[in-house]
Amino acid sequence: KLHVQSGYTVIFFKYLICKNTIYTFIVPFLISMLILCQPHLLLVSVEIFLQALEDGLKRADADPSVKAVMICGENGKFSAGADIKGFSSPKRRGIALGPIVSLIERSEKPVVAAIEGVALGGGLEVALGCHYRIAHVKARMGLPEVTIGLLPGAEGTQRLPRLVGVPAALDMITTGKVLCLVIPPKGVKICSLPDVDALFCNSIFLPPGQPLGPRRLSLKPVPKLPNMEAFLSEALVKVKKQAHGCLAPELCFQAVKAATEQPFADGVRREQELFNVLLTSGQAQALQYAFFAERAVQKWTTPSGASWKSASPQPIHKAAVIGLGTMGRGIVTSLVKAKIPVVALEQDLEYLNMGRKAVMFLLEREAMKMEQGAQTLDFHNPARLQFTVDFDVLRDVDLVIEAVFENMALKKEIFHKLSRICKPGAFLCTNTSALNINEIASATSRPQQVIGTHFFSPAHVMKLLEIIYGHHTSPTTIATAMQLAKVLKKVGVVVGNCFGFAGNRMMFPYAQQAVFLLEEGSRPEAVDQVIEDFGFRIGPFRMSDLAGLDVGWRSRKGQGLTGPSLPPGTPARQRHGHRYSPLPDLLCENGRFGQKTGKGWYQYEKAGGRTAKPDPWLHSFLSQYRDTHRIKTRFIDQEEILERCLFSLINEGFDILAEGIASGPEHLDVIYINGYGWPKHRGGPMFYASTVGLSRILAKLQKYSEAHPDVPGLQPSAFLKKLVAMGNPPLKEWMSYLSRPNNKL
Ligand code: NAI
Repeated sequence: KLHVQSGYTVIFFKYLICKNTIYTFIVPFLISMLILCQPHLLLVSVEIFLQALEDGLKRADADPSVKAVMICGENGKFSAGADIKGFSSPKRRGIALGPIVSLIERSEKPVVAAIEGVALGGGLEVALGCHYRIAHVKARMGLPEVTIGLLPGAEGTQRLPRLVGVPAALDMITTGKVLCLVIPPKGVKICSLPDVDALFCNSIFLPPGQPLGPRRLSLKPVPKLPNMEAFLSEALVKVKKQAHGCLAPELCFQAVKAATEQPFADGVRREQELFNVLLTSGQAQALQYAFFAERAVQKWTTPSGASWKSASPQPIHKAAVIGLGTMGRGIVTSLVKAKIPVVALEQDLEYLNMGRKAVMFLLEREAMKMEQGAQTLDFHNPARLQFTVDFDVLRDVDLVIEAVFENMALKKEIFHKLSRICKPGAFLCTNTSALNINEIASATSRPQQVIGTHFFSPAHVMKLLEIIYGHHTSPTTIATAMQLAKVLKKVGVVVGNCFGFAGNRMMFPYAQQAVFLLEEGSRPEAVDQVIEDFGFRIGPFRMSDLAGLDVGWRSRKGQGLTGPSLPPGTPARQRHGHRYSPLPDLLCENGRFGQKTGKGWYQYEKAGGRTAKPDPWLHSFLSQYRDTHRIKTRFIDQEEILERCLFSLINEGFDILAEGIASGPEHLDVIYINGYGWPKHRGGPMFYASTVGLSRILAKLQKYSEAHPDVPGLQPSAFLKKLVAMGNPPLKEWMSYLSRPNNKL
């Protein structure tokens, strides 16, 4: 019996001998992904595990009384695979699970994997080395390495296609899907593990003397497809399209392809080569950083000292949504999917009917995606989803999410009403994208229960929920909003209150640079291409057409930057002494709101169309505009496009950190990955900045701000300068260079 360290997933080796006597010994197995531990500890544990596994197998083979070996996990879990932190440790490379899996397979005695709970990553690869696999009906299996920028490097890319065929293996390995693979044959009783032992002992699964050769996956051919070549080239196109510049899916594909073309041993060598490419690509580190950042932001803190440790969320039994426009309808759908009863309220019956139709359409579509969805969601039941124009119906709800027009006066009027009608404990949330939470809260008698819950469009799909605390927001309210994010299966990120909060505030200089680039000579399609090649799903102009140019126009009119409230005599391209581009306003004045009107920065096949085509009208409009304002057109290369857009966004991020609006760079990265389509394999804007090098970013910003002194967004942030002066400390130390208290994560 070997020592087992607490918290470790373990495997039992059970020597099944003829007289039903079972000797068991336990070895620590790969640590569960969720348990964080010191890398050196892990290293020791994995080595102990691998050594013990090897010794155990050798002993079992040498002992004539042993007839078979079974590998299973403890506490209902086979194995969640290796600790992700271990992958980035340089020493990790010395540990090879692959040869041990081969050893399992070469065993002269039948080896059986009895899978319960999860078999993921290295855990599933161990199971693939066994001669038999038996799994509980609820067991979930997968090779999720691709999601952290790697591939299954213990021969999994070579064995899985031999077991399940190329299409299924490619699907699992290139997407990292975790699947329930067991379909119990009709009439078969689902057994628990003790029963499984009994079944083995009764030799049901292992008829004596059955040869093991055919059970060794490495000796099996990969099942042929009639059109393998065509299938693979089609699959590659699909993989590349979904990868958006992420290497891992394509290299996973290459590894599986090798299995179809080369003998097993050569395929394994190819798998190793590709694994090493990924390990040193930088993308794996970015993806692993993103994985941990998402977990880190759940532990929120505020500069005043409130934190997740001391605050408890209140239960939400019933919610309300006010306004069923673009956002409200998605928010209602999200709540219904999370089985929270909802009251949906609109300003009048006409809007209510429109909203109801839209919500029902979304819910029907969501239900179709779910097994037995319609019954589970039960959205035709008024106890689950009620539509109304009557504020009195909101008396008994625990939480309200306001999603009406972006207008302060209107929002204040609504919050005043809510404060009078809703029960005293009810939380009042606003979905505003930029407005001052304190001012909205001031319209109520309970500012401690007012909070910003900023959803992203489409609200039932996008994972981010930016949670904005105001001056008076209580820790309980923050905890409740964070809990809501969790229940809605979203990632909540807590930030402070400022115009545009964290996400949109960083977006402003980015979008502004994109438009300035058009003024100076670029085209929407050129800018979008550079940003999409970087890995964003959608460039700034396609994005603006999708969201609607009128949204920003209304906001700029509200701020007095354009429209009737603009003081006469204001220069066309200047506001408050800074450079301003009226281009988006001019497009709106021409009725070009984007997809909804069939024209924006691009042209579309019809109003509501989705296929963007470059528009000759826009090109000649841009030339005329440059002539009118005597702007010298010049060729702008890809590097400048990328740097001006991204570095200005990152620059704003440093200001946000310095002001304490976000409590760490991880927060901004999680916001950008989950809400703004920042490519995950680049780790988020602040992580990306750390990989580019802060000195380089600073130098470039200095260069661009010298060329454009009237653009504040290009003036390097004082915090960025400080970090460069301190010698470019690693990202996790940045916050310690701020002099505020409580600024560490
Ligand atoms: P929208 O214009 O599509 O919908 C607003 C809805 O509010 C309309 O259906 C309107 O009838 C309703 N409404 C107006 N006054 C009302 C009242 N007194 N009582 C009840 N309902 C009323 O607007 P959208 O885009 O859904 O935006 C809503 C809020 O969400 C805004 O604050 C916006 O800034 C914010 N937001 C918008 C995003 C987007 O992508 N559209 C993203 C994130 C936040």
